Amino acid sequence: MTEGDGQLEARLAEQEVFEPSEEFVEQANVSDPEIYEEFEENWPECWETAADLLEWETDYDQVLDDGNPPFYEWFTGGELNASANCLDRHLDERGDEAAIEWVGEPVDEDDRTYTYEELHREVNEFAAALREQGVEEDDVVTMYMPMIPELPIAMLACARIGAPHSVVFAGFSADALATRMNSADSEYLVTCDGYYRRGDPLDHLDKANEGLAGVDHDTTTVVVDRLGPNGDDFGHDLGDDQIDYDDLVAEHEGAEVEPVTRDAEDMLFLMYTSGTTGQPKGVKHTTGGYMSWVSWTSQSVLDIKPDDTYFCSADIGWITGHSYIVYGPLSLGTTTMMYEGTPDHPERDRLWEIVEEHEATQLYTAPTAIRAFMKWGKEFPDRHDLSSLRLLGTVGEPINPRAWKWYYKHIGDEECPVVDTWWQTETGGMMVTTLPGVKDMKPGAAGPPLPGLDVQILDTLGDEVEPGKAGYLTVQKPWPGMLRTLYNNDERYIQEYWAEYSDTDSDDPDDWVYFPEDGAKIDDDGYITVLGRVDDVLNVSGHRLGTMEIESAIVGVEGVAEAAVVGGNHDIKGEAVYAYVTTEDGYEGTDDLRDAIVAGVEDAIGPIARPEQVVFTPDLPKTRSGKIMRRLLENIADGEELGNTSTLRNPEIVEEIQRKADAE
Ligand code: WT7
Repeated sequence: MTEGDGQLEARLAEQEVFEPSEEFVEQANVSDPEIYEEFEENWPECWETAADLLEWETDYDQVLDDGNPPFYEWFTGGELNASANCLDRHLDERGDEAAIEWVGEPVDEDDRTYTYEELHREVNEFAAALREQGVEEDDVVTMYMPMIPELPIAMLACARIGAPHSVVFAGFSADALATRMNSADSEYLVTCDGYYRRGDPLDHLDKANEGLAGVDHDTTTVVVDRLGPNGDDFGHDLGDDQIDYDDLVAEHEGAEVEPVTRDAEDMLFLMYTSGTTGQPKGVKHTTGGYMSWVSWTSQSVLDIKPDDTYFCSADIGWITGHSYIVYGPLSLGTTTMMYEGTPDHPERDRLWEIVEEHEATQLYTAPTAIRAFMKWGKEFPDRHDLSSLRLLGTVGEPINPRAWKWYYKHIGDEECPVVDTWWQTETGGMMVTTLPGVKDMKPGAAGPPLPGLDVQILDTLGDEVEPGKAGYLTVQKPWPGMLRTLYNNDERYIQEYWAEYSDTDSDDPDDWVYFPEDGAKIDDDGYITVLGRVDDVLNVSGHRLGTMEIESAIVGVEGVAEAAVVGGNHDIKGEAVYAYVTTEDGYEGTDDLRDAIVAGVEDAIGPIARPEQVVFTPDLPKTRSGKIMRRLLENIADGEELGNTSTLRNPEIVEEIQRKADAE
């Protein structure tokens, strides 16, 4: 007799520790528990293990140069090319194997598979084309593309010629594109006419063009034709400085481009991310350290092997896709999948259909998706054979034990270890998570730091907090995948990540501590539970949004005097955007103004930042010194009891805001 659902849920609900199966451990890439001690004793030379996964043109002289903290350098003197590591070196053995399996929308006949040989050819042709367009080593090329194969092709083509890429998430607005191109002085853009969403064509080039109109220098744009005749209705005409991708590549058929020799510390790419100020931060990643980091973590945490079909459902427009759809998996010579669509189209079993059809061996997704799957119900995964899966992963925000267990049971059939991976755009790759072939799992806790990392949970004074108490997550030693600086802004790099816990006058690396701006606690076994951001950054569906960015979009709307944005709890998104707004004299909080505010946010950032609720109020809760008390607004957003209002200049306003919010 099989266990009934009720019994099973009850058993799972109580279980706090889960062991990886013997079967998994036996085949795992890393299964020796000694690795933690070995790496600690042998630091920083332990990171040769990661660098050894790459092919170097010139060996490095030194693993770590920490002579000028926090400007650390890794594998100095070494030379390599990322595109050669992802493509050329696999050709002999794996040329005919699939490198990318792309699942496109609409659902019929539109999938494409690229073998390593084919991908190599496409990348070479586009690299030649970019060069012909004038792209030189160290020129930043921007990409504004959805999940189509030309995106990783363009990234690898850039890497091949030593031109750093800056990928802007396709869901970001025209303004966001312009800001990023201006900030990086990027003169080249690769984009597309449009793409499909839930089966329907969606215009993209209009938005790209609007963004280009805001760029303050001359640009050249390459446009991929994704929609073919389905895009005719959009009536696009390419401008003088715009070239069709296929036409361009056709001129370079069969071209071969020697991979440019890059220094380990040469920039591989820039990735803009949100911070506490209105200006996004250009996170700089380098070639040697980043590639070592994503290769090693793909191998040891995701357990990727060349014969796998690995599926990460993230978008390449975010760091997860850079590290764990493109560079990590391809450097290991495996098959990486890309999915253009959404998990609920044409039906809510779309992901499971893909897993079954492609016999995916790993699935790496986000808690927000898992919460949605849970809400839709287990009948959707139950329709499919998911037994090809060997490992599951999550990233982007804390996952609560209930969602973790649902994922473990209904997707992994209690056979697959789940890795809950804490990391950031800035860390380049995973930092805190279990090694699935070594460690037990504790739902809700990401796990111990990876071997070779020194992570401590500190209080505001810099002392370690006791197990179980909340504190701040810090990283005490550098690691190869770390960001090197913020583009053209060393000062802000120090201020944002180091100033909090470091002696910034010191040359001694021991005096420098990296602060990622997350709260966390640790248990007696050293397992870390990440509690969320402690700065003014929201995490909406695993996407990072700065409250300041949203507020400045709102105050840019005519009629708005002041705005405060906070994150409120949300069942699926984790956090949602709540906006509290005062109007200028002569303006009322009408539905029209509310619509204009929502449109203003979408224009400035994108639909992901759309406020869940806009509440008009005559005033915002402020301290006597004029500081907005966001904590109280968070209480209102969460429908909680109000915290202490006695330090406010205007305590009466809080209940008024609460009444207005409830009335909507
Ligand atoms: C922030 C980084 C890492 C790639 C995607 C997001 C939160 C990330 C976890 C996790 C709890 C997590 C943190 C972090 N976060 N992973 N497993 N558990 N929180 O990258 O946009 O740079 O955001 O996401 O708050 O600081 P990002």
